Amino acid sequence: MKIAVLGTGYVGLSTGVCLSEIGHHVICIDINEEKIQLLNQGRSPIYEPGLEELLVSNMSAGKLNFTTSHQKALAEAEIIIIAVGTPQGEDGAADLSYLEQAAKDISKYMKESTIVVIKSTVPVGTNDYIKKIIETHCGYRVKMVSNPEFLRQGSAIQDTMFADRIVIGSEDKAAAEKMKEMYRPLNVPVLLTSTKSAEMIKYASNAFLATKISYINEIANLCEAVGADVEDVAKGMGKDKRIGEAFLNAGIGYGGSCFPKDVKALLHTAGQNGVNFAMLKETIRVNDVQRELLVTKALKRFGSLQGKRIALLGLAFKPETDDMREAPSITLTSALTGLGAEVFAYDPVAIENARKIIGDRVKYTTSIDEAVSGADAIFIVTEWKDVKQVDLEVLAAKMKQLIIFDGRNCFDENKIKACSNIEYYPVGKPPIIIQ
Ligand code: UGA
Repeated sequence: MKIAVLGTGYVGLSTGVCLSEIGHHVICIDINEEKIQLLNQGRSPIYEPGLEELLVSNMSAGKLNFTTSHQKALAEAEIIIIAVGTPQGEDGAADLSYLEQAAKDISKYMKESTIVVIKSTVPVGTNDYIKKIIETHCGYRVKMVSNPEFLRQGSAIQDTMFADRIVIGSEDKAAAEKMKEMYRPLNVPVLLTSTKSAEMIKYASNAFLATKISYINEIANLCEAVGADVEDVAKGMGKDKRIGEAFLNAGIGYGGSCFPKDVKALLHTAGQNGVNFAMLKETIRVNDVQRELLVTKALKRFGSLQGKRIALLGLAFKPETDDMREAPSITLTSALTGLGAEVFAYDPVAIENARKIIGDRVKYTTSIDEAVSGADAIFIVTEWKDVKQVDLEVLAAKMKQLIIFDGRNCFDENKIKACSNIEYYPVGKPPIIIQ
């Protein structure tokens, strides 16, 4: 099939690359010329494992192209997939301005037979709203499909190629069948629903996962108070198939470009419709408090953080991505520097993006060794592989004293207990102090 993808962010680019990989002819459009130039050289503007390799091989096979010209991309497209951003607006609602612009742009060049698919995360009713905009501009009935995305950054290719499900929401049966056909090579279960249900499935899923994280974080706080171990508790809970093991990792809260904004957008939709979704308010509140957890613990340990040198390991909101949106590291660096601490931050890929948000309040380092040299304590913020595999005795030799506040429970007990001198404060587990 001939497919056009609008928007080359994480979702659009991963989708376009994967659709070309399963045999379709894909052309990706973006208004950002720099991005398109880079992509045309076979380089990915984002860090996403495995993406660049697939990008290059499908470009060489002639199945994947990039352009800034809507006219060129839409002239022959049978399906247009819109994957532009829907950032959080000032009132918590999703900002639909990129989507509205995309609707106007495509209405100029699409064919009457073309199916328009919204993959961007959009509030219930948005597909109908965008359909009206396109129809007003093009003058004929448009075939609309809602096809929400469930891929995670850092494992976008894997999540697309081996998805748990594909949701296709449409009032147009033929359009829904054609979408099913487009995805057939993936061999993934497909759920056909109404447009509104598909839109709701996306928000309900993300809000549920965010709530699952806040729930386990509250259990972790309780475990600390009573002396239980949240990892064992999560394991025991997760063995129950009704609960499931995934997304029960306690830590310093969820971040990223999706959960924080989607939970707020769903809450906004609930409010607009007179539904008091109080549970979601708690999900957000628990997450806000959790982000400060390491600072709270360090204050308890040191009394004051004035003049303390803190090595902050990991800046990205999760491993395997350079994305800094809503990363807990932003809250932590701001709290630490506000309390007079000196922060030496390390991240294998996110420093460039971090600098744009955090600025020069912290010193950026190029290795874990450099970050921890002379430090009073380590904050583990992102569970990168090189952080998890670090040799603790080597760190100890570089620090005044090996004190670790681990926000991601990166080490097993045996590794900690093998140290000759350590203070280790994990989340939801008793601290280990060896002197
Ligand atoms: C999330 C969803 O998982 C995807 O299904 C969805 O498609 C995507 O949002 C989206 O809407 O586009 P993503 O934000 O990339 O994906 O990353 P996740 O792996 O879900 O992690 C989100 C946050 O939750 C991270 O900060 C992570 O550290 C945190 N988390 C995750 C925990 O604290 N504990 C866990 O057990 C799992």
